[in-house]
Parts: sequence; structure tokens; C-alpha cells
Amino acid sequence: MPAAPSAIDLSVQLGRLRLPNPILVASGTFGYAREMTGLVDVTRLGGILPKTITAQPRIGNAPWRTIETAAGMLNSIGLDNDGIEAFIEHHLPYLGGLGVPIIVSIAGKSHDEFVAMTRRLDGLEGVAAVELNISCPNVSGGVDFGTDPAMCERVVAECRAATATPIIAKLTPNVTSVPAMAKAAAAGGADAISLINTCLGMAIDWRRRRPMLGNVVGGLSGPAIKPIALRAVYQAAQAVDTPIIGIGGIATIDDVMEFFVAGATAVQLGTVNFYNPQASMEVLDALPGAMGQAGVKCVAELVGSLVTK
Ligand SMILES: Cc1cc2nc3c(=O)[nH]c(=O)nc-3n(C[C@H](O)[C@H](O)[C@H](O)COP(=O)(O)O)c2cc1C
Repeated sequence: MPAAPSAIDLSVQLGRLRLPNPILVASGTFGYAREMTGLVDVTRLGGILPKTITAQPRIGNAPWRTIETAAGMLNSIGLDNDGIEAFIEHHLPYLGGLGVPIIVSIAGKSHDEFVAMTRRLDGLEGVAAVELNISCPNVSGGVDFGTDPAMCERVVAECRAATATPIIAKLTPNVTSVPAMAKAAAAGGADAISLINTCLGMAIDWRRRRPMLGNVVGGLSGPAIKPIALRAVYQAAQAVDTPIIGIGGIATIDDVMEFFVAGATAVQLGTVNFYNPQASMEVLDALPGAMGQAGVKCVAELVGSLVTK
């Protein structure tokens, strides 16, 4: 018998991080939230991931930086941002005042930079967790930590040791073995693992014999990559006990439920924010009913419930 929506508990636990609900918005697709407040009641979200910040300001890659393909969006922004100090001064006070868990996404150029940035954020009001973006395909050296298990484990472990704040490792699908990377992040002590960042791709203007993106290659996102993301989440959930945050092409309540069944405890909506900014609200509205239909009272009862035999 379906559970009554009022009996349903939407809160989720990701290691040491507790969220009021499992619907989050992905880094790089929601600005610093201010831009979205006229379009979305951001205070309802389970968590907000602002655009990844780096130690120093970055101007990002040459244009073009985004291209629409026949199936999915290609981007190569190159981590355009004003740097961690500007973020702390100009964005964090506003974000922290929203009453929503803020998960700060960081990318270091080196191991030491990741650790130093984590330490800088330690104890700052408004920072609920830190997501280590070790999966950006659009900056040189950006994915090394996400493709080499030893580097991944070491950077996660030392960031974890540098702060009392929960640590999330965001992994790339552009590897031979997702489980190997998930195991490395888990061994490093990650509170949760986010999967996936974008899938490497490119687009070409054959008449000009030119790449469409200034950076030649970029990351594919949107519903086109959902099957890849579901597979990555499923494989990671089979390999580790660490909670997984599913990302990749999520646009509807059915997508969200599929990710839970595959093994995700929470999800992040990304590219959909560009073409349907209301998607996170629609999913939140539909979630209690879908959980009732599934006969569960909390998300944990659904996580990894896929039947394969
Ligand atoms: C324009 C754009 C910018 C992005 N910037 C970031 C970023 O700064 N940091 C990050 O971790 N992921 C970034 N991503 C990746 C998304 O957070 C997400 O992992 C990916 O797009 C897959 O989810 P989706 O298909 O729902 O968009 C970006 C994606 C897009 C489309």
C-alpha cells in the first residue's frame, strides 16, 4: 500500500552530512544562486553547489565555451571564477544566509592547493560541506586526481584531515574503471562520492574545418549522458559503502527515482537548470508521491534496490 505523503521523511544522510532532502543543484549550472532566486525558491533545495572556485582568479577558456549538440550540451568553461577569497567575501555571506546547506566546490592545481583551500574553508559559517572537483575535463591537469587512484585517495585523505567539514569527492566518468576510483575516494575517507562530471566530447564545423569550442574538446552534459551516469552510479554503489550523489542528465522525477534505485542517496540537477529552471521544484513537488508509489517512507529504503536477477 502506498505510504501517505505526510508520513514520508525526505531527509538523507551522506556520511557526516545531513540534508533536508535529496534534491541538489550541480556546480556550474546554478551560478552562485543569486542569479536563480527570481526563478526558483532556492530555500526549498536540499543543497546548493556554487560554481567551482580555485585558489586564484581564473579567466577561463577562450570562446566558444558552450555548444548545443544534437543530443546534449558541450561546455568548456575552464573554471572561470574570481578565486576563493572573492568567493568568501562576496558570495558566501549571501549563500550562507539562505538557510540551505551550501556545498562549496573547489579545484586545486596541485595536491597542496586542494588541501590549503579545504583548510581555508574550515569552520567558515555557511559551509556545510566541501566537494572536491577532481573531475573537471576543461583545465589542464584538472582530472589527474580523478583518474589516478593513488592521487585521488591521497588528496581526499589529506583534505579530510584538514577540516571538520564533510568532504565529497566528485568523480569523472572518463576513466576505464569507475569502481577503482570510487574505492580510492572511499579509502581516502570521503563522506560521499558525486558521480558524474561531464563526458569528454567535441564538436566540429567541417566547413571551416574548425572545432566549435575554443578549447577544442569539452564536456557533454544533459539527458544524453543519463545512461552513462546511471551505469557509473550503479557500478560505484556495488563497489563501496560510501553514499553516492547521482548527477547526469537528471530532469524529471522518474530520473531521480532511477538514480535512487541504482544506488544514489541524493542527486544533483545540472544542465536542466538552463532549459527548465523550475525542474528542481517540480521534482521536489513530485518526490513524496513517487516515494509513496514505491512504498517507501525514506530515501534510504530505495537506495540500491535494483533487482538484477
Ligand atoms: C556549463 C557547465 C558548467 C559546469 N561547471 C562545473 C564546475 O564548475 N564544477 C563542477 O564540478 N562541475 C561543473 N559542471 C558539471 C556539472 O556539475 C555536472 O556534473 C554535469 O553537467 C552532469 O550533469 P547534468 O547532465 O545534469 O548537467 C558544469 C556543467 C556545465 C553544463
